[in-house]
Amino acid sequence: MPVKPYLSQIPNTIAAVSDYKAFARERLDDNAWAYLHSGAADEITFRNNRLAFDQCALLNRVLADVRGGHTRLELFGQTLQHPILLAPVAYQQLFHPEGELAAVRAAAAMDAVMVVSTLASHTLEDIAHHAYAPLWFQLYFQQDRVFSSSLVRRAEAAGYRALVVTVDAPLAGVRNREQRAGFHLPDGIAAVNLRGMQQSPVTLAQGQSVVFDGLMAHAPTWRDIERLRQLTDLPLLLKGITHPADAQLAMQLGVNGLIVSNHGGRTLDTVPATLHVLPGIVAAVQGQLPVLLDGGVRRGTDIVKALALGASAVLIGRPMIYGMATAGALGVAHVLRLLWEEMEVAMALSGCRTLSDITPNILAINNT
Ligand code: FNR
Ligand code: LAC
Repeated sequence: MPVKPYLSQIPNTIAAVSDYKAFARERLDDNAWAYLHSGAADEITFRNNRLAFDQCALLNRVLADVRGGHTRLELFGQTLQHPILLAPVAYQQLFHPEGELAAVRAAAAMDAVMVVSTLASHTLEDIAHHAYAPLWFQLYFQQDRVFSSSLVRRAEAAGYRALVVTVDAPLAGVRNREQRAGFHLPDGIAAVNLRGMQQSPVTLAQGQSVVFDGLMAHAPTWRDIERLRQLTDLPLLLKGITHPADAQLAMQLGVNGLIVSNHGGRTLDTVPATLHVLPGIVAAVQGQLPVLLDGGVRRGTDIVKALALGASAVLIGRPMIYGMATAGALGVAHVLRLLWEEMEVAMALSGCRTLSDITPNILAINNT
């Protein structure tokens, strides 16, 4: 539980996402912080996600008339006011007693799409009833595929508008930071959406691998994506795509969107920064599908860079939680507001009136 009370007003000294990070560190105990902050292994990918943004230079444009500018976009038939989505983050009550209910109120206030994790600490129905925000459901396939399908049906019934299947974490990464901190879920926080699910333990025969035959025994495959495509008419996105060949397989199966993600550096360490693999994925889909990106987005300029390289929108994971741990819904809303405004400033100063003006021409790499 947090060691300091939450802020009920936001002081002027909080000017950026990085300020929220410092507040969050003060307010969270070591257990929750280890879970939030942990990347896999040596956290090389975790750091490189950020480094890639820092090392990508923008070019400003002067004397452009940007009056009437905006950040609106269309995604899967939905009009969004800005391209900043709340990423699926498990067990949000670890970070604030209201957990996902704080996030959904902030999403509603800021016109943001919230992607709700299978491992949410509130039920997907409660989250949907709590505030009107456009919701997408993030699906982790469960060992029991009938139960997995029932999650999809529940999301449909509760009004979720898209399904995000996370495909890069069939097993947990080697999370040394969590291990060293002895991370555990405190009493009272649980994956409540999975209540009632049957799980049978996998028994290994002599010589079988704990990983290949144990942890991965019921991991999803492309066949599951094919079946899911037949099960639902909701727009279907795959999250965790970094290889162009996987992007092509996804397209062939009728997937509607891709999220270039390495899980915030939490699964396979040393995979490249998402910004670096984005152009390859964008090239592979040839404009046929929207490609979203997450990992390391901390500034409005980061969003503009991702869009310049072909992303339609971005998701924020840890920044949302920095805001939540500091000031609940108010903090999450303010984080969204800060990023949105920073993005508008970056667009104005690089001569972009709308998202379609954001092209590779505003990146130094393409012009030097
Ligand atoms: C995550 N992420 C995640 N992804 C997912 O598909 N389902 C989940 O339940 C979770 N849970 C989760 C918990 C925590 C504490 C973190 C930090 C991340 C990954 C998340 O959706 C997103 O890909 C990354 O967080 C993006 O990177 P940044 O914005 O945190 O740098
Ligand atoms: C994580 C899982 C829950 O990143 O996706 O912690």
